[in-house]
Amino acid sequence: MKKLWGGRFTKSAEEWVDEFGASISFDQELVQEDLEGSIAHVTMLASAGIISKDEAAKIKGGLNVLKQKAEQGELQYSVKLEDIHLNLESMLTEIVGPVGGKLHTARSRNDQVATDMHLYLRSEVGQIIQFVQELQKALLEKAEEHVETLMPGYTHLQRAQPISFGHHLMAYFWMLQRDKERLIESLKRINISPLGAGALAGTTFPIDRMQTADLLGFDGIYENSLDAVSDRDFILEFLSNSSILMMHLSRLSEEFILWSSQEFQFIELDDSFATGSSIMPQKKNPDMAELIRGKTGRVYGNLVGLLTVLKGLPLAYNKDMQEDKEGMFDTVKTVAGSLKIFAGMVSTMKVKKQQMEKATRTDFSNATELADYLSDKGIPFREAHEIVGKLVLLCVEKGCYLGDLPLEEYKNAHFQFNEDIYEVLDPANAVQRRNSAGGTGFKQVEAAIEKAKTILNHNEEHAVL
Ligand code: ARG
Repeated sequence: MKKLWGGRFTKSAEEWVDEFGASISFDQELVQEDLEGSIAHVTMLASAGIISKDEAAKIKGGLNVLKQKAEQGELQYSVKLEDIHLNLESMLTEIVGPVGGKLHTARSRNDQVATDMHLYLRSEVGQIIQFVQELQKALLEKAEEHVETLMPGYTHLQRAQPISFGHHLMAYFWMLQRDKERLIESLKRINISPLGAGALAGTTFPIDRMQTADLLGFDGIYENSLDAVSDRDFILEFLSNSSILMMHLSRLSEEFILWSSQEFQFIELDDSFATGSSIMPQKKNPDMAELIRGKTGRVYGNLVGLLTVLKGLPLAYNKDMQEDKEGMFDTVKTVAGSLKIFAGMVSTMKVKKQQMEKATRTDFSNATELADYLSDKGIPFREAHEIVGKLVLLCVEKGCYLGDLPLEEYKNAHFQFNEDIYEVLDPANAVQRRNSAGGTGFKQVEAAIEKAKTILNHNEEHAVL
């Protein structure tokens, strides 16, 4: 097969060399974007008088045929034709004849491929933003059901202070809100057009870059042709935003894995998101959460991979840059899949409320309450801390919890302790009283949920897409 760029060559590469250089096996993912870009380009060529209206109409006709065929999965790609751009150009010429060769006037594959990827990411990031929103909704609904469900809050994975389970879930809502904001913000940089930058230097033809940008729904154009064809930081930004997002999902995965263990028994994942063991009949494994935790690694890998590909490249295009695609496609699939699974996992999980609450009664996570109690009565907090520390030690020696100690012991420790300490020690009271802004107090959690709902609705109404 003759290469589309074969003019100055006397000998063709062997098949295995072609295969090594080809990107068609993966960049066919960009087929629709490539055709859209071409349609805009050819429209502009005609309005600028670079090709005739008639020629443009023929070419567009052919491109639309290809669009339909692509949708129906009827296109047959060839490795010999290297990539999606050359494959489509050759198919076009087969349909419309030699006039198809005019499509590439005033354009290079360098600005073409960059345009395709901007279009691709714009729509995929839009999708991912929706999926983040869905997961936020699932978390919000669960949180609303569990404002007053008590659980031990941890630091260092040691029981620290009792909290509301709803509050814990809402922590992830806000992380995801920032992830979503980062993605929305990145659209500003994704949604600019490199088209018309040519191979690197612009073109001698009287093209109208704003027209193609408008036709493709871009907000503006790259100011510098070299930058336009060399920039991959819009992809890096996506990979980096995705890495942070996956890190959040991975932490929640880890918590789900812990919570669904026999040791915690705080939640039970729905059967539809768990798997069994081929040997141990009793097993119910949190595979999906584990996989998401694991897949976080490959998203980080994709980010570091592309950073490394780009770090030594001189301007402008270098073939190294063909390596930008697989990691991007993989990340889109991984992040979208993980978010979808997570939303399902959250809304179907069973929260073992009693088990969680029991945990808050069989630990020392109410010790801070006692220290606060004394300092409320004017005893310096440090001193109160020491007194309560001793009481905890006493309990440890006796094999009981703070609520089990008779008042007498409290009186021995400090005369300011009174009968009302037992109420103070109650975990529900402990949570309720943490009414500082952003705290776990039920009122605060309810207010946060209301605020979150408003934000979510607002985001939905002002969907960036
Ligand atoms: N397949 C190429 C890529 O993905 C398209 C751009 C090729 N440009 C070139 N000058 N060889 O990077």
